[in-house]
Amino acid sequence: MTVRSSDNCPSRIGPVPEASLVQRDSRQAPIVLFRRNPLKVVRDPALEADISNPFFGSRPESMCLLQLDFTGAQPSSILQSVAAMVRLLERSHTGLRWQVGLGPTLFDRFSALPRPRALKLLRVNGDAAFGLMPNSGQSDVIIAIGEEWRIIIDTARRLVNLLKDSDFRLRDVHIGYDALSDRDHSGFIDGTSNLQELTPEQFAACVFVQPEDDQPFAGGSYLVFRKYEEDLEMWNDLPERVQERFVGRRKKSGSFLNGSFDWTPEARKTTLANAHILCANPRETPPEHPDHWKGRVYRRGLKFTERGSEGLLRYGLLFLAVLRDPEVQFCRLHNERLLPDSGPKDSLLSSGYITPVCSACYYLPPTTHIERS
Ligand code: HEM
Repeated sequence: MTVRSSDNCPSRIGPVPEASLVQRDSRQAPIVLFRRNPLKVVRDPALEADISNPFFGSRPESMCLLQLDFTGAQPSSILQSVAAMVRLLERSHTGLRWQVGLGPTLFDRFSALPRPRALKLLRVNGDAAFGLMPNSGQSDVIIAIGEEWRIIIDTARRLVNLLKDSDFRLRDVHIGYDALSDRDHSGFIDGTSNLQELTPEQFAACVFVQPEDDQPFAGGSYLVFRKYEEDLEMWNDLPERVQERFVGRRKKSGSFLNGSFDWTPEARKTTLANAHILCANPRETPPEHPDHWKGRVYRRGLKFTERGSEGLLRYGLLFLAVLRDPEVQFCRLHNERLLPDSGPKDSLLSSGYITPVCSACYYLPPTTHIERS
């Protein structure tokens, strides 16, 4: 099978083993949850429609995230239920892109399942002050579907109907949109810098688990899902030049503060040390360096608007990061550079404008094939 890729879906690196997630039960034949297909990925933006994952390739108009918890006692019924959901997704609308993710809580309960090494609850500085505990937004499974609005809603409705006859229950649902504008609620362009300058190999090193990290799970990725509420009353009262200093970019054009789109010594001079773009991407290690991936984050952001308390609306961002290692690329970056225990903090995240309300981590298997061997 050949998968063609868009700019952001280069080849996964290294030889990959066949079975990824096998329930080891000596009394039965092994149950293979996710079997890897041999993937040969060719970089060809013209064929990006072939990409079936909503996290890679072009940004979907909208995305729905279904967080599910497993209530059964037997891991074999995880397989049955997930397989039924996957069948539904596979037969769903043409163009629908989807991905299943597995949370650490599932593996805590069923220790016989081989576990992706870096799959843990996220420990994120600052969350406790908002009453957000490492497990409070975590679910056992996540299903992400991306397409146009009508299609994701129809697919989500059919998936939720299917859950009635399964050992999964719907814990939460998050729907974000990205249509018509590449600007987020802050009014800034989102995605100006998102690993576009990397070669396919450098990009793959940032987003796919490599054989030397964790051989049985190589070729998959981790997903960090965070939901942030944004206080637009406060933000819109700030003068534009203050907002720009918090972010480190010009609001209208997305350039650095000196007007340049290239990271030159002049651009560096005009960027404050605690501007969001500098804390989030220290720009200390060149892409050719083997450790470059450790400081880089590939993101997909979607806006949401919901009913809030006291008759008000609640606005924010569904922050989705697809990573090779969530501890290194998200927790360490966040806890040492964005919101360290002491010292200067990221101006945007510490301004009071942003409140984290949900936080979770998942392993994303490299293919969505599910079968019983
Ligand atoms: C509601 C929360 C957030 C908002 C509104 C926000 C907004 C922005 C904006 C406006 C930019 C500049 C445009 C761009 O380069 O895409 C940006 C860049 C970026 N943000 Fe955030 N962000 C948020 C949270 C986070 C978090 C939690 C991280 C965690 C690591 C993060 C990582 C990044 C990265 C890596 C960049 C690119 C930096 C660069 O290479 O220049 N952001 N963000």
